[in-house]
Amino acid sequence: MQTSVHRLRRCRDLGGGSFALEVDGPIPPTEPGQFYMLRTEHRWPVQLPRPFSLYDRAADGSWGSFLVKPVGEGTRALCALRPGEGMVLNGPLGQPFPREIEDPVCIAGGVGLAPFLLLARQQKAKGRDLRLLFGGRTRAALSGLEDFAGLARVSTSTDDGSHGFAGMVTALLDDQLQRGAVEPGEVVFCCGPDPMMHAVAQLCEARSLRCFLSLETYMACGYGVCNGCTVAVQGERFKGWPYSRTCMEGPVYEACELRH
Ligand SMILES: Cc1cc2nc3c(=O)[nH]c(=O)nc-3n(C[C@H](O)[C@H](O)[C@H](O)COP(=O)(O)OP(=O)(O)OC[C@H]3O[C@@H](n4cnc5c(N)ncnc54)[C@H](O)[C@@H]3O)c2cc1C
Ligand code: FES
Repeated sequence: MQTSVHRLRRCRDLGGGSFALEVDGPIPPTEPGQFYMLRTEHRWPVQLPRPFSLYDRAADGSWGSFLVKPVGEGTRALCALRPGEGMVLNGPLGQPFPREIEDPVCIAGGVGLAPFLLLARQQKAKGRDLRLLFGGRTRAALSGLEDFAGLARVSTSTDDGSHGFAGMVTALLDDQLQRGAVEPGEVVFCCGPDPMMHAVAQLCEARSLRCFLSLETYMACGYGVCNGCTVAVQGERFKGWPYSRTCMEGPVYEACELRH
């Protein structure tokens, strides 16, 4: 983990209210699912930095980008940066999606798309196309979809049927299971809003799929000091502790490790 100031190169409008903020390197090697705490160098309006997955990274680390949706003061300040202005990065932080899973079925909702572009690049380097199910309310909400062209086999779903499968992404997964495009025993990686992840985890349990979730828990420090990001857990990995810090042992957990 390191803290460093990076210049904004450009802010790319991805549609649907989200932006790809591209900063100068060096960006350290970062695994899909790891995150950075970000703030602007000047005029940061809130007390604490905010957590974001790394969205993209040049192979040589000479630039990196973050997919940011403005939802509050911090995210609005990041998206208001002008080219040449500074962004403070602290990372990479947290545990990535398990590296040993060769061909996961990835499921994303909204800005939960962010960790999967790095994974798609990793898979491409191994000669595989990432399988990605990407859901949103409307076509406009599928921000970043174009960035996966040529890198992944993407199936989309929209609640209003304006792009891809008509319905929620869980119904799309169910449909793929029924058609044999996804089979029991396969492994799902999921990132998105909590209700979506909960529904995906339930479906996976019912259909004998292993499921890993990347949580978007509130975080204060991002590196294990404040205990502000705990979730209730179970399982050997936690050595009897009933709670886990998302920023340290997460943000990626196997669904069966989480207690509700
Ligand atoms: C590991 C991790 C990775 C993330 N990656 C991304 C990413 O790639 N792109 C992205 O746009 N966002 C990502 N997020 C979410 C992002 O950190 C929050 O949107 C951001 O902290 C909001 O800050 P703010 O100051 O703009 O909003 P605030 O003023 O703090 O909050 C604005 C509104 O958003 C809600 N909110 C804020 N944070 C969260 C949260 N974590 N979960 C649910 N609701 C929240 C608040 O309740 C409030 O209603 C990630 C979060 C985590 C933990
Ligand atoms: S955010 Fe402070 S301990 Fe996790």
